[in-house]
Amino acid sequence: MEFEPPVFGEATPPCHPSEETLRLLSQRRSTAADLMGAPGPTPLELRQLLQLAARAPDHRCVAPYRFIIFEGEGRANFGGILADAYKINDPQATPERIEKERARFMRAPVVVGVVSSVRLSHRTPEWEQILTAGAVCQNLLIAANAFGFAAQWLTEWYAFDPAVLTHLNLSDDDEIRERIAGFVYLGSANEPPKERARPDVENITSTYK
Ligand SMILES: Cc1cc2nc3c(=O)[nH]c(=O)nc-3n(C[C@H](O)[C@H](O)[C@H](O)COP(=O)(O)O)c2cc1C
Repeated sequence: MEFEPPVFGEATPPCHPSEETLRLLSQRRSTAADLMGAPGPTPLELRQLLQLAARAPDHRCVAPYRFIIFEGEGRANFGGILADAYKINDPQATPERIEKERARFMRAPVVVGVVSSVRLSHRTPEWEQILTAGAVCQNLLIAANAFGFAAQWLTEWYAFDPAVLTHLNLSDDDEIRERIAGFVYLGSANEPPKERARPDVENITSTYK
């Protein structure tokens, strides 16, 4: 698929009436990483997916996020980090459990780590910068589905584990505070996901008077 992103300053369509997009949104469902397999995106498709994800709303163009790609051997190498960290956290862990951790990133052909990268001295509030990273993750899910890939946004335990995070070189200084917004697993569904419970929009909606 070819895209022609608008150039800076060019007039762009304010809307894109598309029944296909509405159908996607009305049926969108994550596929559990455990149910994923090959194929995943090609290198070109992955670049395009990240470009689409990076069109998320972003107050004052901070770009408060970055991507870390796990593919090929990188997935196995990171799995080794997870296995080691898990063993330290739970010395009683069974060998089966350790192997499960080692294989976590092998569940999908490609995993994208989306790092929330907050510029602490920026005029745009931290909260808004964090929301942008979340919007990037959601854009990535939707773009992946539209490309024909299954996707799931996960954090699991390792997104919060200090020992694991040192291997991802997240910044935590006076300038930039980084956290994992999500690991987005990308691949193909081995079986279709089943619908889950959804909020009743009536119950969470009021009209300001
Ligand atoms: C920030 C974030 C972190 C998540 N982490 C996990 C996780 O660690 N484990 C999990 O089972 N689901 C996690 N989920 C939820 C799934 O990705 C998925 O959204 C959920 O199962 C609902 O499916 P749906 O996307 O089809 O609505 C997370 C979702 C978000 C937004």
